[in-house]
Amino acid sequence: MSENHLKAKMVVDRTFKISDVNPRIYGSFIEHLGRAVYGGLYEPGHPTADEHGFRQDVINMVKELQVPIIRYPGGNMVSAYNWEDGVGPKEKRPKRLELAWRSLETNEVGTNEFVEWAKKVNAEVMMAVNLGTRGIDAARNLVEYCNHPAGSYWSDLRREHGYKDPHNIKVWCLGNEMDGPWQIGHKTAYEYGRLAAETAKAMKLVDPTIELVSCGSSNTAMPTFPQWEADTLEYTYEYADYISMHQYYGNTENDTANYLAKSMDMEDFIKTVISVCDYIKAKKRSKKTMYLSFDEWNVWFHSNEQDKKLEPWTVAPPLLEDVYNFEDALLVGSMLNTLLRHSDRVKMACMAQLVNVIAPIMTETGGGIWKQTIFYPYYYTSVYGRGTALNTVVESPKYDSKDFTDVPYLDQAVVYNEEKEELVIFATNRHLDNMLLVDIDIRSFEGFELVEHIVLEHNDPKAVNLLHDQQVKPHNNGESYFENDKLVAVLPKMSWNMIRLRKKSSN
Ligand code: AHR
Repeated sequence: MSENHLKAKMVVDRTFKISDVNPRIYGSFIEHLGRAVYGGLYEPGHPTADEHGFRQDVINMVKELQVPIIRYPGGNMVSAYNWEDGVGPKEKRPKRLELAWRSLETNEVGTNEFVEWAKKVNAEVMMAVNLGTRGIDAARNLVEYCNHPAGSYWSDLRREHGYKDPHNIKVWCLGNEMDGPWQIGHKTAYEYGRLAAETAKAMKLVDPTIELVSCGSSNTAMPTFPQWEADTLEYTYEYADYISMHQYYGNTENDTANYLAKSMDMEDFIKTVISVCDYIKAKKRSKKTMYLSFDEWNVWFHSNEQDKKLEPWTVAPPLLEDVYNFEDALLVGSMLNTLLRHSDRVKMACMAQLVNVIAPIMTETGGGIWKQTIFYPYYYTSVYGRGTALNTVVESPKYDSKDFTDVPYLDQAVVYNEEKEELVIFATNRHLDNMLLVDIDIRSFEGFELVEHIVLEHNDPKAVNLLHDQQVKPHNNGESYFENDKLVAVLPKMSWNMIRLRKKSSN
């Protein structure tokens, strides 16, 4: 074993339950932005396009991720969107100036097409309504169009458009980032709270089975955070089932140690929002617990400068096309761990976004497809992180960075899948130079054996994946082993790991 290693300890016990993991925490997001829709999931002239113009190569790769829910159609875009523009005969759909991203929106893809596409990738739709330029009427009509079986104006219009059965969309976002001055129709907390509550009331009258997400702050740096949450929940608590959270990180100061600690900010954010929700719960003497929908999270900063140079009012400009590097994948892994550790309150989350726009999947318009570095932690956590999240007792060496103190080198989350009798450990080693040896006491998992130890590692934190040059890929040669009934996890320097154990079969 290398001389340069640090030691950590963990205790994992099947009785230390946090919560069942809601698979919806592995959701994602498609906005009408850049090449997410046009040139991403929809490209009729593409060699792999199906009869509806959807790229089959994209469908296949999205299916690999097992994304259970996808937020649509925005994002900032939804705040000036007329959903009626995107339904009915395609040749009659208007081209519109899309104000949020200053692009040209052809409306070739709209609600029905997206619902069709989501079915192909086995995902449910999380639909956002426009509370920027519109309000109660447009929102309740959209619920009627999508979810009412038949016999009313909007449901019959859907049937006329070729969709006999209702879409039955369960989850609806009451606007997007309404606290942000950049939002079209930006509102004060009072204005938003009242509008969201009245809209929610009308939407639930149309379909009482829907679940609603009230807008939380756009990020922790907003001057109105967390007062916005408290003020808006005063009005929406009764109607909403979730409050939204959004957060993006970047390594703008090029300080890897500090960057890798940024999931600690995400953790504080979650704790604060939980506190505010519970304060309002107490204030209202409510029996209802508000859940969190972390429906935009990711790394986003690489493309900021290049985006400023793009010409406005074009169709599908290459906006927000961050090329992710290896250290971004490490942070994404830790962000996923953070969601898992809070799975008792975070019941939905969306990696923002899914294709081409700050995305794990990239395409060339008319050409190929590839996996960005961040694809891998998302893939493994989504596919194997299903079951019950377990609390762990951890002793890890720590470091201080520019913005954080006591950052554990070991960042982890553990999921036990009772049905498959599998125990899965997700672990990031934040140390830039040293390997971490973690003694893991898995005392209540007697008779479990190692199935695989997947490692994502690279010497260069800035290594990237391009269409024809995939530098960052996981391997299955992790060196974890058992010693006296204890699992020793061997985490290479700067690495993301998944260690999967399974109960030995009795034969
Ligand atoms: O995901 C990109 C943008 O980030 C979304 O449109 C907006 O909601 C957020 O600010």
